[in-house]
Amino acid sequence: MKIAISTGGGDAPGLNAVIRGAVLAAIHRGWQCVGVRRGYAGLLGEDRVVPLDANAVRGITHLGGTILGTSNRGDPFRFRVQQPDGTWTECDRSDEAVAAFHALGLDALIAIGGDGSLRIAQQLQRKGVPVVGVPKTIDNDVGGTVATFGFDTAVQTATEAIDKLHSTAESHERVMVVEVMGRYAGWIALHSGIAGSADVILIPEIPFDIAQVCDKIRRREEEGRHFSIVVVAEGAAPKGGSVSLIDPEHQRLGGIGDKVAHSIAELTGKETRALVLGHLQRGGSPTTFDRLLGLRFGAAAVRFIAEGKFGSMVALRPPIITAVPIEEALATPRRVPLDSDTIATARDLGISLGD
Ligand code: F6P
Repeated sequence: MKIAISTGGGDAPGLNAVIRGAVLAAIHRGWQCVGVRRGYAGLLGEDRVVPLDANAVRGITHLGGTILGTSNRGDPFRFRVQQPDGTWTECDRSDEAVAAFHALGLDALIAIGGDGSLRIAQQLQRKGVPVVGVPKTIDNDVGGTVATFGFDTAVQTATEAIDKLHSTAESHERVMVVEVMGRYAGWIALHSGIAGSADVILIPEIPFDIAQVCDKIRRREEEGRHFSIVVVAEGAAPKGGSVSLIDPEHQRLGGIGDKVAHSIAELTGKETRALVLGHLQRGGSPTTFDRLLGLRFGAAAVRFIAEGKFGSMVALRPPIITAVPIEEALATPRRVPLDSDTIATARDLGISLGD
């Protein structure tokens, strides 16, 4: 057997652990492995395919990023080409990718990615490439699995940032608004906000009312707590309003933290500052949880190839790792359920969810 591994979409801490888990599990079976550089670019002649042996994956478990590189702009089915006048057009180069896969004598592909890359993997599977997917994203929003690797590390980073904001907020008697990632799911905001003792947490699943947010801040003032910490998910939106986009063409979210901070300052008269945590949440060394999950996902992907479970995605369903159809995983993005005990916990702790 000769298998290929690709990492696509935004990076997430734990990608290298998955690569190591898969490569060592493949070598253990006497198989050969190659890595496709920069998403699918290595199969399109835009980059290379590199051999992955035991040496190539030595000492990488603790490293953030991906040794293979990644891209969220290289979909072979909608490949973007810049025209001489500077505009962009799209063309379907999937046949080239499939031909390259076969020309390299490959038997299977492990596609590590979020919903975008998994969708590409599913389309490649339909064109005759045997695929096993591995769910990756700090946003934790892939269906079919109770967790994606990278999420735990992102939450850890966000929690540490919120911890640090407490002392400066309290010293200056300010409101600090921190915008965290997560796309259209509030997992990072909710988990880091609760763990970091935020006073207000705004998530996409619960449209917020800025008057409620300001009430919470005023109540704290009356209790002698002259500072507040507000955690806002990048996909949060006011009741009846829409999400904030910094790049509408590519649906890039951002800017809601500033807007919320501005409104709070205006409505409460409190000095307010905003910061965007941004890509810090994607960087750094994976936590123990993400390393272990990554290694387990990588090894499981190889086991599923050995069992012929193509078209599936590895999924964590504690206490086991199982194979779910990629279709099922992509059918419904995983958002925070409003009846979850984590939401109930936030409310019980007196945290305002802006509703
Ligand atoms: O999906 C991961 C993620 O980090 C989101 O939380 C965020 O909205 C997006 O990617 C940012 O993507 P980019 O790499 O294009 O800035």
